[in-house]
Amino acid sequence: MMVLGIESSCDETAAALVDETGRVYADVVASQIELHSPFGGVVPELASRAHLQNVIPVISEALDVVDGDLSKIDAIAVTQGPGLVGALLVGVQVAKALAWVHKLPLVGVNHLDGHLLAPFLRRGDDPESDLGFPYIGLLASGGHTALYEVVAADEITLLGQTRDDAAGEAFDKAAKVMGLGYPGGPKIDRLAARGNALAVPFTPPMLHRGGLDFSFSGLKTAVAQHVRKHGVPESESDLADLSASFQRAVVEVLAKKAIKACKAREISTLVLAGGVAANRGLRARAGELAAKEGISLHVPALASCTDNAAMIAYTGALALARGERAGIDMAAYSRDPERVRGRFDRDGKQVPRRPPGAADG
Ligand code: KG4
Ligand code: ZN
Repeated sequence: MMVLGIESSCDETAAALVDETGRVYADVVASQIELHSPFGGVVPELASRAHLQNVIPVISEALDVVDGDLSKIDAIAVTQGPGLVGALLVGVQVAKALAWVHKLPLVGVNHLDGHLLAPFLRRGDDPESDLGFPYIGLLASGGHTALYEVVAADEITLLGQTRDDAAGEAFDKAAKVMGLGYPGGPKIDRLAARGNALAVPFTPPMLHRGGLDFSFSGLKTAVAQHVRKHGVPESESDLADLSASFQRAVVEVLAKKAIKACKAREISTLVLAGGVAANRGLRARAGELAAKEGISLHVPALASCTDNAAMIAYTGALALARGERAGIDMAAYSRDPERVRGRFDRDGKQVPRRPPGAADG
């Protein structure tokens, strides 16, 4: 089944052709980084306008592999949410129009599910890959940071999440006060590789409390205070030290809580997903801790970590195979619809859920 995926939830306009095995035939991304970079973050109105300009050229480029022939496509999958609504509307409306005119099945995909299922893409290229359900998914991006138990493509439970900023947002804001520009994650990642992570003693936030939840706003403030007190590092090596120290604090808590979730749920597979999963420090630290605990770690290819439409097409292909279909009146949603949320005690052990209607005590 050849699925055309369309993604426009934030600042990337993307289209891809993928089948239900995760084989990728086309994977086109038009990034808006240059457009938003003077503002130090994504400006929603500008994002919507740029999606409007880019969406048809991007889809048309993806369709080049089938000579632009939509009759070779079996279905269309589009990111339905969460994201910026003005941005989502562009992809959703184009997907609906194409599905309607070409009488193709249509399905709406949750962007976060797409990130969590991304490691199944291009597995044919890696015969060693033994990824299977269940796994713990650490999703860390610019808009979300959360841990999930992924039992099946359609059975994903939220275990814990950030109480304030997302990890990617913390990277971007720290980079901004350090004068590194937007987006900050890749820049800090590059500098950190050359720096001393113990140069500035930032505390990994909420490492020993909050169960499987995260918090990054205090760390962001700590970096801002450091810069206020000592000024923006002038030398390349001081900048690298500050980057490495900040990155270590973020990575330590992400990696440790991901492992904690694996142990609490007795699951021996861990997946890193979302833009921050591209971080080399996180990949290395999670790899180290996972190896120590006998947990197998899976990370999507770099291009499948940041926003893309291949993960949307693949997630859509699975939903279509289950018989899911969206109506032509499909809406978009800005926030993640309610998910079952696990409750955890101080040690990260899950508190059994009371059956519906059961009395207190
Ligand atoms: O998943 P994504 O492309 O978009 C969202 O859905 O948010 O994630 C973008 C975020 C940005 O905050 C960016 O700074 C961060 O991922 N990011 C990184 C790296 N590459 C991207 N953070 C740390 N290290 C990286 N190498
Ligand atoms: Zn994303």
